[in-house]
Amino acid sequence: MSSADLYNEIVQMTRELVRRSAHPRRKTLMLSPELAAFVTAAVPAAPDGPMVAAPSREDNAEALAALARDVAACTKCELCKTRTQTVFSDGNPHADLVFVGEAPGADEDRIGRPFVGRAGQLLTDIIVKGMKMRRQDVYICNVLKCRPPENRDPLPEEKRLCEPYLIRQLELVHPKVICALGAHAATTLLRTDLSTGRLRGHWHSYYGIPLRVTYHPSYLLRKPEEKKKAWEDIQHVMRFLTGEEKAERSSASLSVPDDSLA
Ligand code: URA
Repeated sequence: MSSADLYNEIVQMTRELVRRSAHPRRKTLMLSPELAAFVTAAVPAAPDGPMVAAPSREDNAEALAALARDVAACTKCELCKTRTQTVFSDGNPHADLVFVGEAPGADEDRIGRPFVGRAGQLLTDIIVKGMKMRRQDVYICNVLKCRPPENRDPLPEEKRLCEPYLIRQLELVHPKVICALGAHAATTLLRTDLSTGRLRGHWHSYYGIPLRVTYHPSYLLRKPEEKKKAWEDIQHVMRFLTGEEKAERSSASLSVPDDSLA
């Protein structure tokens, strides 16, 4: 390869890197063997480890705290005018399991933490009494970070504007498994219009992270007869976490998107 070709490839790759910095999920670049050899020779690897250090747990926790501050200052939609405060998350930022709900309600808006009202008590019971875990060991967040007035459903535009925060949040926590609670979480994460009834019962993939859908605790409060099905969903999550079950996807599984978050 001539030095002009090498130069051209470096220019192209630099352009590609700039383009991909707008798409932080696409992290791999295909280099020609010549350029790879050139870059490897030019930038010696650190003695023990990769050239670029992987972010530490502390870095991710700090990045989540910074993201929470961005969310607290967010004015992208009208909900900023009616919220008391934003509701970012609760629990362990290094959790293996993340629950994603819909949006804060009145209690959450007042207290500033997700799932602290009646539905939250049921979620806590599922975690503590059912899964035998501590609530502070899982991570809990919502699709929307602000309360919709009168507890109305989140609007499509609100979900669209808030989704980048959720994507980043899940990227930073990077759990082993995600449990989507109800239709808004499931359809936002999986980019589908299918019902919770259709989506539950299978493993899905969210940027490579296994995802299970179950009913929202508020729905279970209204329809306690569906609790048995929700418990089945939760047991799949538990078996996955203990290694007794693989997150094998069936023909009914959805995958969003197919590249990895990390
Ligand atoms: N319902 C949700 O979806 N999230 C909360 O935080 C509370 C109730």
